[in-house]
Amino acid sequence: MVCLGNICRSPLAEGLLKSKVDSNKVMVDSAGTSNYHIGDTPDPRSIAVARKYGLDITDQLGRQFTKDDFEEFDYIYVMDNSNYRNVTLLARNEKDQEKVSLILDKIFPNEGASVPDPYHGGEHGFENVYNMLDEATDVIAKELNN
Ligand code: 4NP
Repeated sequence: MVCLGNICRSPLAEGLLKSKVDSNKVMVDSAGTSNYHIGDTPDPRSIAVARKYGLDITDQLGRQFTKDDFEEFDYIYVMDNSNYRNVTLLARNEKDQEKVSLILDKIFPNEGASVPDPYHGGEHGFENVYNMLDEATDVIAKELNN
């Protein structure tokens, strides 16, 4: 799960998907394309909305996406088109590129829809992001659990 800072959107996506799959079978992680928040815990507003829905994401720490992630992961879900560009710029070949997709393609196929960056907004933005990611991770979990 990849966003820009790895403190708002992708930690929610990571926490949600982890809660829906068997950790013995599926490794879920998140990262940011930037180095802005390496080592930071998620934004307090993400922690709060997750907690409201019974999810604890306080053990997560920000890290930056690297080329090695193409080796480690089969699927790379990005939150917006800017993340998509930044991640695919690091792809070494077509196989790497094919691993990358917009997470909202899972619920709005072929629309190119982005999870809006809630960083500069209020609480409502985080609730909205949580609900979108809840729906998208339902679909991903179903696919992975089959
Ligand atoms: P995220 O949100 O990409 O969903 O984690 C942001 C967090 C921090 C910044 C931008 C977006 N920032 O500019 O520090």
